[in-house]
Amino acid sequence: MPDPKSYYVTTPIYYVNDAPHIGHAYTTVAGDVLTRWHRQRGDQVWYLTGTDEHGTKVERAARDNGVEPQQWCDRLVETAWRPVLETIDAANDDFIRTTSDRHKRGVQRFWTAVKETGNVYEGEFTGPYCVGCEEFKRPGDLIEKPDGTRLCPVHDKPVEDISETNWFFRLSAFTERLLAHYEANPNAVAPASARNEVISFIKQGLDDISMSRSSVSWGVQLPWDSEQVVYVWFDALLNYLTAIGYGAREGTLEARRFDTTWPADVHLVGKDILRFHAVYWPAMLMAAGLPLPKQVFAHGWLLVGGEKMSKTKLTGIAPSRIVDHFGSDAFRYYFLRAIHFGQDGSFSWEDMSIRYTAELANGLGNLASRATAMVDRYRDGVLPEPVAYTNVDLALQDSLVAAVERADAAMDRLDFAGALEATKVFVDEVNGYVTEQQPWVLAKDQADIDRLSTVLYVMCESLRALAVLYNPFMPKSMNELWSRLGASDGLGEIAEQRIAATSRWGQLPPGSRVTKGDPLFPRLAEPTEDQAS
Ligand code: ME8
Ligand code: MG
Repeated sequence: MPDPKSYYVTTPIYYVNDAPHIGHAYTTVAGDVLTRWHRQRGDQVWYLTGTDEHGTKVERAARDNGVEPQQWCDRLVETAWRPVLETIDAANDDFIRTTSDRHKRGVQRFWTAVKETGNVYEGEFTGPYCVGCEEFKRPGDLIEKPDGTRLCPVHDKPVEDISETNWFFRLSAFTERLLAHYEANPNAVAPASARNEVISFIKQGLDDISMSRSSVSWGVQLPWDSEQVVYVWFDALLNYLTAIGYGAREGTLEARRFDTTWPADVHLVGKDILRFHAVYWPAMLMAAGLPLPKQVFAHGWLLVGGEKMSKTKLTGIAPSRIVDHFGSDAFRYYFLRAIHFGQDGSFSWEDMSIRYTAELANGLGNLASRATAMVDRYRDGVLPEPVAYTNVDLALQDSLVAAVERADAAMDRLDFAGALEATKVFVDEVNGYVTEQQPWVLAKDQADIDRLSTVLYVMCESLRALAVLYNPFMPKSMNELWSRLGASDGLGEIAEQRIAATSRWGQLPPGSRVTKGDPLFPRLAEPTEDQAS
């Protein structure tokens, strides 16, 4: 039997012109949560991220800092881009660098193959180019200033006019096939706003596009023309193939990985790079005779003063500034909870503090504290056996079934906020249940001993389910909660728990050792002036 197909998730590979900001962390966190959720569904998952190191933008950043591009890339990758993955607790399976041999080899192989199909030819390019976007622009894409300068609307910087002889990719030949593809696969680009944008762009008709640069030297050399390098985007997009073994020798482990991993299930991207992923990329794959990704999902922008946060404009906030204060779990939770995935959003210390306190410290954290402290206090830390379920208990079990169904369905749509909302509804219900049942009153009367057992069990068993649902979002604190519930002895690792089985009631074994501890989400002082500025 062939190996099962992996669920393959990717982030963009980020330019190393500077250190990462929370915009990059946002995409990577989303991919990581999706990965962990699918693992808990029982899927085999492969999660890729990495860095885009060629092109004019990176080369200029290196030269401006007085170092060779390769040295610059090595330094940024090691001191900034790899470490940020730890800061945000991302568990990627691989990290691809476009300056690696495996990547360069694959790029050359791919373009050699496409050239053989007749889809690459020599020509002249004259027109505007935005180094911030690393993109050939069309005059209609630009903002005209009264003094005649033309600006890139994303970077607010003047475009450069270039004129060079280079090699073209016959993009125009794929117009009809792309339209047919998106017609037949309505989910291939999401959300709907992105899909509409892509389809109307294709419908305007596609022009052939330069796939190489003759005036740039920092790149992958064209196999058939040593004077030119592959245009940085047509190098970078190929990371999704080269990282999983495209071009590897048949029979090797790498080649097998390619067969069980491609096509990607979802390419997560920001809407800034939608066109590259939903127009050029599938056309390249069609030209090479390869299957297309199942979905490109374009999320919105984190804004600063109403504009996209950006390395080029130096408006970025380092992820560690937020993580140092709130912790990585709260970071992961906040951005996926507060911003609807697919829409733009702004970060503010104040908004994050409010949500942290209400939903994590008071909501979930308080429930966990109350449950573990009461089992500790009333039952010496031994989880009691439930005695008889009343209608209230049974109603809560039904609510859990509904919450799991809603959350799982939301995750299918990459609606992270919806999944968190469904889970939070259940947290609130359990907290309401505790307030109503008043276990502290039951504890005073010997006659209520059985009822107290049941209520304590319901609280801890509800937390068992919540830990599983929140684990993809907040793995550190949910691991801690799992161990405080004494769950690992009876149930194994939290990451091994299946989403589909989460609402099956009665899994936490009575007799489990429950321990209380410091708050999972401690109350925090207001962020200091310095942080908030
Ligand atoms: O475009 N809000 O790299 P890049 C949300 N190398 N997400 C943001 C963001 C913001 N303000 N800023 C950046 C490139 N991102 C190419 C990609 S892929 C084959 C090559 C995230 O360093 C978002 O995912 O400019 C966006 O698409 C990506 O970082 C761009 O990173
Ligand atoms: Mg960018």
